[in-house]
Amino acid sequence: MDPYRFRANDVACGTCHFPSLAFADGRRLGAGVAGAQFRDTDLGPERVVPGRSIVTGLDVGTEPRNTPTILNTAFNGRDTPQPTTESFQFLDGRVTGGLEEQAGKPITSRDEMAGDAYGPDPSPEEIQDSVVNRIRAIPEYVERFKQAFGGELGEADGISLDHVGRALAAFERELITPNSRYDRFVGGDFNLFSEQEREGFKLFFGKGLCGDCHSGPMLSDFTFEVLGVGDDYESIIPGFAGKNGEGGDFGRFHADTLEFADQKYAFRVLTIRNVELTAPFFHSGSAGTLHEVLEFYNRGGLGPDDISDAELAAAGASRHPSIRPLGLTPAEIDAIVAFMKTTTAPVQSGPLGVDLTAVPERVPSGLLPPGAATPEGPGPYLLSGERSK
Ligand code: HEC
Ligand code: HEC
Repeated sequence: MDPYRFRANDVACGTCHFPSLAFADGRRLGAGVAGAQFRDTDLGPERVVPGRSIVTGLDVGTEPRNTPTILNTAFNGRDTPQPTTESFQFLDGRVTGGLEEQAGKPITSRDEMAGDAYGPDPSPEEIQDSVVNRIRAIPEYVERFKQAFGGELGEADGISLDHVGRALAAFERELITPNSRYDRFVGGDFNLFSEQEREGFKLFFGKGLCGDCHSGPMLSDFTFEVLGVGDDYESIIPGFAGKNGEGGDFGRFHADTLEFADQKYAFRVLTIRNVELTAPFFHSGSAGTLHEVLEFYNRGGLGPDDISDAELAAAGASRHPSIRPLGLTPAEIDAIVAFMKTTTAPVQSGPLGVDLTAVPERVPSGLLPPGAATPEGPGPYLLSGERSK
């Protein structure tokens, strides 16, 4: 049997992308494996960071970024507002092969799902093999993968990481929220909006300059732009290494491959859809409310906690020209916020009317789904296969 089987099973994709939290986690920064810490609760906002690995006792679990929603990621583009299956995923676009490619990543990340369960310096492939082997050993999963992929799979051995990624992506592709009031408005139902919402619509695409980046069907053009949103991590987690190892985040610049060295501090333009439900905002979660987001734009990113022009220049970056003091009045800010809320819509039901926001009571592995009651005491599991008391 796979020796890793029972070591650190306290986190699922749904722990950080939870249905009733709009498939995000309601936290400033994501909290991964070991965040449940033997307590009788494991949901996004209730997780404890840093958690302590039950394998090594070392701290683990502070994601260096805010968790984005999975809703409508099916429609992410790649340098264009048009949706594509080969879309950018992640705020720095380091995944360019769409949801299928993305699905293999969280399981290999120490902070997200892997923890210390796979030995001192595991390769991503080692972790992925272990996960696939576990699935192959669960008859109910083998049966279900056979149903889903038909003749493509022979016996259990036929299940590969590719199938796991395709299965997760197929589910995620169903998590869409069409038919918002915004969609009906742009579809021609012009009387649908209140006067304030109509005013907000005009400001969003006019004086507010929001439409310079938030355009197209997802209200994002899926480009990477420098805004200079700060993070202030030091005040919440002293000594935090952040994404760049220096307590901050260089966005599009990929420190490991040194790609995009000229795009330091650039982040992907995020969708506006459902922002009513997905606070906190920005890559660092530094804006707690939509009004705080608007305050950032209204001051042109020139506040004391924002990244200064000098810091940007030192990194060879410069703020996008549309990020400049806007002179929006409080009433205009209220109107833009009201307009953004018109994009909120429920998740469409799945095939055969299935409610895709319902967390299953059980899953084939026998592990507890996120948010489930834990009658015999909280997780995680011990190596013996018994639940810890
Ligand atoms: C510990 C919390 C956590 C877990 C567990 C987790 N995610 Fe995420 N997810 C995040 C964070 C944080 C990001 C943003 C990372 C970045 O931009 O670098 C993200 C980004 C994503 C994105 C990209 C969204 C976009 O618009 O760019 C997708 C899709 C996604 N996750 C799916 C999954 C799947 C599938 C799983 C399980 C295999 C999973 N996540 C597990 C926290 C988590
Ligand atoms: C220059 C391009 C640009 C302009 C102009 C712009 N945005 Fe953004 N927007 C972005 C980028 C890039 C991000 C992600 C930044 C980050 O995470 O650091 C973002 C993030 C956001 C978010 C947070 C979404 C989330 O899920 O965290 C909201 C809300 C938002 N923008 C609203 C607006 C509004 C309202 C305006 C107009 C007042 C506006 N934006 C103008 C590029 C832009």
